[in-house]
Amino acid sequence: MKKLILITGSTDGIGLEAARKLSSEGQDVLLHGRNRDKLDAARQMLGGNTEGYIADLSKMTDVEELANAVAARHDKLDVLINNAGVFKTPVAMTPEGLDVRFVVNTLAPYMLTQRLLPLMDTSGRIINLSSAAQASVNLQAVSGQVRLSDMEAYAQSKLAITIWSRELAAKMPSGPVVVAVNPGSLLASKMVKEGFGVAGNDLGIGAEILSRAALSDEFAAASGRYFDNDSGQFADPHPDALDPEKSRKVMSVIEEVLADTPK
Ligand SMILES: NC(=O)c1ccc[n+]([C@@H]2O[C@H](COP(=O)([O-])OP(=O)(O)OC[C@H]3O[C@@H](n4cnc5c(N)ncnc54)[C@H](OP(=O)(O)O)[C@@H]3O)[C@@H](O)[C@H]2O)c1
Repeated sequence: MKKLILITGSTDGIGLEAARKLSSEGQDVLLHGRNRDKLDAARQMLGGNTEGYIADLSKMTDVEELANAVAARHDKLDVLINNAGVFKTPVAMTPEGLDVRFVVNTLAPYMLTQRLLPLMDTSGRIINLSSAAQASVNLQAVSGQVRLSDMEAYAQSKLAITIWSRELAAKMPSGPVVVAVNPGSLLASKMVKEGFGVAGNDLGIGAEILSRAALSDEFAAASGRYFDNDSGQFADPHPDALDPEKSRKVMSVIEEVLADTPK
């Protein structure tokens, strides 16, 4: 049966490739981006009829508007792929004093998921883009009191989304499924070309695993798990994600920062 799938950050890279694949296979894809021209180009690429939503996920007001806009047009969402992400960026801090990596890669998808959960039933799937790069989260960095390098901020934000994926999954034992996925390392996106200066591997590797995570039976009972597409299997994430006390602290700081951020 046709699924309705929202893919954040589907104007480029893995998200765009996954949108093309899923749409060509007959799924209903909702595109999202922060840049109107790139969003229009992505819509054209998919045939012109695809819905596109604009939101800058470094702004919580935009996240709220995105959720409202999707809910205004749809009673039910089958799959949410929290794909949008940032590594290197010219301006690392938001006007609220938060690191953009934590905002876009961890906090915005958390809030978007919370806002869209009422549209999802127990058969739904939430797929969160993690990474092989995961590093222990400095709680003060999440709240903007400590500055990090690009790599530290990125890797910590990716452990943080992996942690909240497990924690949210534990709260919803009957579903929807929540999984964290490393799509494969050094895939040929602009993030990788600009961030690491390498050409990178086929983006189709990432699109393929996102499609499987969204639709295949192998992920139907995988809630709370981490899929590592470098090894091609479910695997343990960073040890901190398996540590209840560390996970609890990360969840607390996520909730606190979101509570303090204007929406
Ligand atoms: N490529 C890899 O090897 C790799 C490995 C592990 C994990 N990942 C993860 O995979 C996901 C996709 O990354 P990618 O490699 O495909 O990178 P990409 O080509 O740079 O695509 C990132 C997408 O996120 C969007 N985005 C970035 N900041 C945003 C913001 N503030 N608001 C709204 N949208 C925003 C981008 O929009 P624009 O088009 O406007 O820039 C783009 O659509 C990320 O979460 C990344 O961390 C990638």
